[in-house]
Amino acid sequence: MSRLAKTSVKELLQSQSVKEEVCVKGWVRSIRRGKGVAFITLNDGSCFASVQIVLSPELDNYEAVSKVGTGASLVVTGELVESPAAGQAWEVQAQNIEIIGISDEDYPLQKKRHSLEYLRSIAHLRLRSNTFGAVFRMRSQLAFAVHQFFQQHGFLYVQTPIITANDCEGAGEMFRVTTLNPVNPPQQNGQVDWSSDFFGERTGLTVSGQLQGELFATAFSDIYTFGPTFRAENSNTSRHAAEFWMIEPEIAFADLRDNCQLGEDFLRYMVVYALENCQEDLEFFNQRVEKGLIDKLGSLAEAEFVTISYTEAVELLQKSSQSFEFPVIWGHDLQSEHERYLTEKIFNGPVFVVDYPKQIKAFYMRMNNDEKTVAAMDLLVPRVGEIIGGSQREERYDVLQTRMAAQGIAADEMDWYLDIRRWGSCPHAGFGLGFERLLMYLTGMENIRDVIPFPRTPGHARF
Ligand code: 4AD
Ligand code: MG
Repeated sequence: MSRLAKTSVKELLQSQSVKEEVCVKGWVRSIRRGKGVAFITLNDGSCFASVQIVLSPELDNYEAVSKVGTGASLVVTGELVESPAAGQAWEVQAQNIEIIGISDEDYPLQKKRHSLEYLRSIAHLRLRSNTFGAVFRMRSQLAFAVHQFFQQHGFLYVQTPIITANDCEGAGEMFRVTTLNPVNPPQQNGQVDWSSDFFGERTGLTVSGQLQGELFATAFSDIYTFGPTFRAENSNTSRHAAEFWMIEPEIAFADLRDNCQLGEDFLRYMVVYALENCQEDLEFFNQRVEKGLIDKLGSLAEAEFVTISYTEAVELLQKSSQSFEFPVIWGHDLQSEHERYLTEKIFNGPVFVVDYPKQIKAFYMRMNNDEKTVAAMDLLVPRVGEIIGGSQREERYDVLQTRMAAQGIAADEMDWYLDIRRWGSCPHAGFGLGFERLLMYLTGMENIRDVIPFPRTPGHARF
């Protein structure tokens, strides 16, 4: 293989001048043979575009190279010259081409457009398609932007545990983690004896790092987590995954308003970051996936975020002439059809809904003075619906204890959490933002499976 330093396609295409000798390594996207010349488009994933390689019949292995199949891997050395072809500034006049890996004729990616479902079934080659190239480059850049936002604002990054004994959201949607023999587990009084399990108690994969995050916030003030989260909810929707990544900031000495402000600042930062750093991939999504995406993001960067109470949301929905599948009743959770109607039809932009009825929200949310609602906040955005869920936390020991008892949560298992409220308790708040929901919003992709490298959903854990 050539020992000349490799240049990525991205670097080549951004070149400021011709270069006598470059080396580029990548996979063949297409081959076109003309009279006494052949062209290969070579892509290495570094950017959306491919570089054109020009083959003259003087190449030693001209015949062999001009017959390598689509998908084959090549190392090309040659000269970077200005391209006479329209739409590209540079091309490489090949002086030497090494065929590294040939590609069989049945290469599954053809020139025609493939359905996203089909591409999901070919995990390896899906990544070489235009769409998924753009998705995963953006996913990488935006993950970096998440850290950049919080680090620039002085937040501490905490890695909360993946295995835990607490169901933070209380929804009973945890995947169990056990080393007990499933065929004949040890039993006591006809029940599985979890005390003889690996950790001496029932454990599962985390549904949220929030509770542990709160401990850190009451020592480090402003913290965030960013990691994998698991939900065993059997909802086969385009917006739910069994494994997804969540960003959970937690801020001390803060109330619900501060929390909404942080959510707004963060979302705006991510949008602006994408507009400034992912132009080429965004152009593709704008043309092929969601028409008007770039304008939508541009207007979000400047939009006012509206805040309404849950009670107001219910009134607005009840007054609308829309007929919903699920009735709108105060005290019932908003369904995604309701959420989308609010953000898409009524406000046509981002909306915070705050102060939800206590019976539909988790135990840790702060009780409001009306004793009927809690200081919860959801941020709804067009096309995606709920992108952020958060709250101010109950910082009053007695109130929290009463709330836990009412929900049947054993205080002795949660003493470490309650204790935050004993020695220097303070108002604090935080939220969770689903990274995949954010990516859906920023790319226009409509199915959460299509923004995850290897999606896990009910019935699917292959690859
Ligand atoms: O609203 P959720 O359940 O809130 C929490 O877990 C809190 N503990 C967060 C906190 O206050 N620290 O989830 C937060 C966000 C949702 O708004 C949504 O964006 C995303 O996580 N999310 C999912 N994303 C993909 N698939 C799923 N099954 C999701 N469930 C929630
Ligand atoms: Mg939620």
